[in-house]
Amino acid sequence: MNISIIGSGYVGLVSGACFAELGNKVICVDNDSKKIASLKKGIMPIYEPGLKDLVKTNIKMKRLKFTTSTKEAVAASKVIFISVNTPTLGNGEVDLTDVENVARHIAVNMTGYRLIVEKSTVPVETGEKIKHAISTYVKRKVKFDIASNPEFLREGQAINDFMHPDRVVIGVESKQAKDILVSLYQPLHATLVVTDIKSAELIKHASNSFLATKISFINAIANICDIVGADVVEVTKGMGLDKRIGRAFLDAGIGYGGSCFPKDVDAFIHIAEKIGYNFELLKAVRGINRQQINLFLNKIKDTLWVIKDKTIGILGLSFKPNTDDIRNAPAIEIIKSLLAEDAKLRVFDPQAMKKTKAALSLGNCRRPISAALKFCRDAYDTSKGCDCLLIITEWDEFKELDFGKIKKLLKRPIIIDGRNIYEPLKMQKLGFTYIGTGTKGALKQDE
Ligand code: UGA
Repeated sequence: MNISIIGSGYVGLVSGACFAELGNKVICVDNDSKKIASLKKGIMPIYEPGLKDLVKTNIKMKRLKFTTSTKEAVAASKVIFISVNTPTLGNGEVDLTDVENVARHIAVNMTGYRLIVEKSTVPVETGEKIKHAISTYVKRKVKFDIASNPEFLREGQAINDFMHPDRVVIGVESKQAKDILVSLYQPLHATLVVTDIKSAELIKHASNSFLATKISFINAIANICDIVGADVVEVTKGMGLDKRIGRAFLDAGIGYGGSCFPKDVDAFIHIAEKIGYNFELLKAVRGINRQQINLFLNKIKDTLWVIKDKTIGILGLSFKPNTDDIRNAPAIEIIKSLLAEDAKLRVFDPQAMKKTKAALSLGNCRRPISAALKFCRDAYDTSKGCDCLLIITEWDEFKELDFGKIKKLLKRPIIIDGRNIYEPLKMQKLGFTYIGTGTKGALKQDE
């Protein structure tokens, strides 16, 4: 099938490369000419395992092309996916400027029947608005359909998620649109949920918000565990074995970050409010998430007492492992808070150093950033002379460190773990003061 993807961000680029890999002819469009020029040379704007090879192979096989021209893409494609940015405005409302802009461009360039599919995360009823915009701006009387096909891929494992989805959601209002999308996804042999457009849009909101709810729920339980001296890892094991609950997305920690959950929870609260429903449950989910970073910062203060002039090591900057994405990453907020209290920081991340440097050079800190913040070579370099070491992102390489070496390098053998990647008792036996998230109980077992 000839398809176009308008917007070559995370979702657009991964979807485009994967559709090409499935044998389709794909044109990826973006209005950022620098990005398109780099992509043509096989240079990725993001770090995503496997993506570079997939893009390069499909360019070579002439199944994948990049352009800045929506006109060229619309002329050549029967199916056009919209996967542009949908940021939130300060109040949680989703900014649909780019979606509307793309809809207009598609409308004026359509030469025959087109299926326009929204893949960006958009508020319910956006499909209707796209339809209205296209009907308004279309030049000739050409037929078209609108569909919703939300994406559920996770950064860091996006290709696998695309190729082996739990389900593919297809929201349509005509048989022709349904047939096209069913046949496009046929090679994946996935479970298809074919429904109406509004329900498809809501499936995306509901799924992300439910996952965020699981995370905030387990974080609330972790906070209770810390108070009473229980172990959240054990509680999670016991809960997760109940098939009705499931173990996934019950890892307690410093809360959810990234470009999706914080934005999508805000947006869903706002959408509900607009239609007259007060989504109190989601407001609490958001509140708990915001609280997690403060509780983590309090643990640092409780341990070190005065932060000023203390040297603190930070392992992990990206919002989660296997990505260089630092959008809404807890590490950035933690760095800013500690620098504001005049700490000296030594930090390391396997992929996100460049983006962190760029983000923090604009930071409003009391000391010159270079003097207070040192970007280190690895976990060992980070540990040198530190009063404590913080685990912020659970990269695999932090799980298997030489702890004898780490202990010697630290000024004081204190580890505060925001992701519970170590066994508390083991760390205690190795001579560390180990402070996890909801794992106080695990330290007491042998006493
Ligand atoms: C999320 C969804 O998982 C995807 O299905 C969806 O397609 C995507 O948003 C999107 O809307 O585009 P993503 O943001 O890439 O994907 O990352 P997740 O793996 O879901 O993690 C989100 C955050 O939750 C991370 O900060 C992670 O550290 C945190 N998390 C996750 C926890 O704190 N505990 C957990 O048990 C799981």
